[in-house]
Amino acid sequence: MISVIVPTFNEAAVIQETLRRAGAALRSEGEEFEIVVVDDASADGTAERVEALAGEIPARVLRRPGRLGLATAVLDGGAAARGDVWAVMDADLQHPPEVLAPLARAIRDGADLAIGSRYVPGGGTSDWTWVRRMISRTATHMAATVLPLKLATVGDPMSGVFMIRKSALEGTHLNPLGYKILLEIIAKAHYGKLVEVPYIFQEREQGASKLGARQYVEYLQHLLRLALRTGQLQSWVRYGAVALAGAFIDVALFVFLVKDAGWRPAPALPLAIEVALLSNFVWSEVLTFYSAQKPPFGPGVWRRLARYEGICVAGAGLNCVATGLWLALRGGLVGAAMAGVLAGGALNMLINIPLIWRTWQAGR
Ligand code: GDD
Ligand code: MN
Repeated sequence: MISVIVPTFNEAAVIQETLRRAGAALRSEGEEFEIVVVDDASADGTAERVEALAGEIPARVLRRPGRLGLATAVLDGGAAARGDVWAVMDADLQHPPEVLAPLARAIRDGADLAIGSRYVPGGGTSDWTWVRRMISRTATHMAATVLPLKLATVGDPMSGVFMIRKSALEGTHLNPLGYKILLEIIAKAHYGKLVEVPYIFQEREQGASKLGARQYVEYLQHLLRLALRTGQLQSWVRYGAVALAGAFIDVALFVFLVKDAGWRPAPALPLAIEVALLSNFVWSEVLTFYSAQKPPFGPGVWRRLARYEGICVAGAGLNCVATGLWLALRGGLVGAAMAGVLAGGALNMLINIPLIWRTWQAGR
């Protein structure tokens, strides 16, 4: 049975339509289901509207004494749920309830975790302004950057609509921090197959979003905490050390070749960058991404090297441009090389981390 958990805080205007459409979607799939509305003492009569549907839809209300947060609402709803699958969905119709049908199908077809996704083909965000789109994309990209091995392969890790088999949550302790319970689940649950189902995030027509500045700060804290709990922070420390060593090699070799060996900068710089990249690659194999299942230079090493080099071409190019500009405008070999490393490194940090780390994520 699917237990649909719907957190509400002042959603009286839409809750009945939401539950009716959710019920219709699941019935059309022939699914057995219950709906648990977790209401935080809404003053607008949300809970009563749910209870008024008794007989029509198998929905009940879990009443909490005051506003206690979205993530804890999901967990409390889950604790009260009777199904072997949890579905989580917002009440405000921004998640079209019809998405429950393909989600249920994905679970039936063997997925342990099915996510309603804005960022896979067919998904989207209705009429968001480009500013809002950018904030959302940036936040998603940040998640993939801080937790590349866990979150980079998921298109929409911050989705609020998903289904998960309860068995995948056994033995995991979910921390209800902030708004994004799905981040916890992706990082900590034990799932085999993960499927993303496209949906279009609708505009809110009634009531107001409960997302504010505080939620953004909590989100950052949440990412860092997850990185610590999942061991990715340790990988980050190793990754940072290797990158620093690479930067040092790049600068030192470039300066040596030009100053002491009498090379011209044009061939010296690409050589220095390439040696630094090779050093980064070797240390990534041996240290950063090493594990018993992934021994250094194991199967696929040439493919990984080719991929790594391919991703780093852009940063290397930017490094050359920045170094060249600095030499032309200000002179000074060390400063120029450092400007190049910083520019290339910044590009990798801001854009390429998820891609780079994924080089070592695929099974060998
Ligand atoms: N019980 C309870 N307690 N419910 C809450 C609380 C709370 O403290 N805060 C919000 N809710 C309910 C709202 O009533 C709504 O049903 C749902 O949780 C989402 O709240 P919104 O304020 O509408 O969130 P949003 O639209 O900005 O963001 C949603 O969609 C995003 C994209 O999928 C959330 O689901 C995000 O987690 C999600 O990333
Ligand atoms: Mn909403």
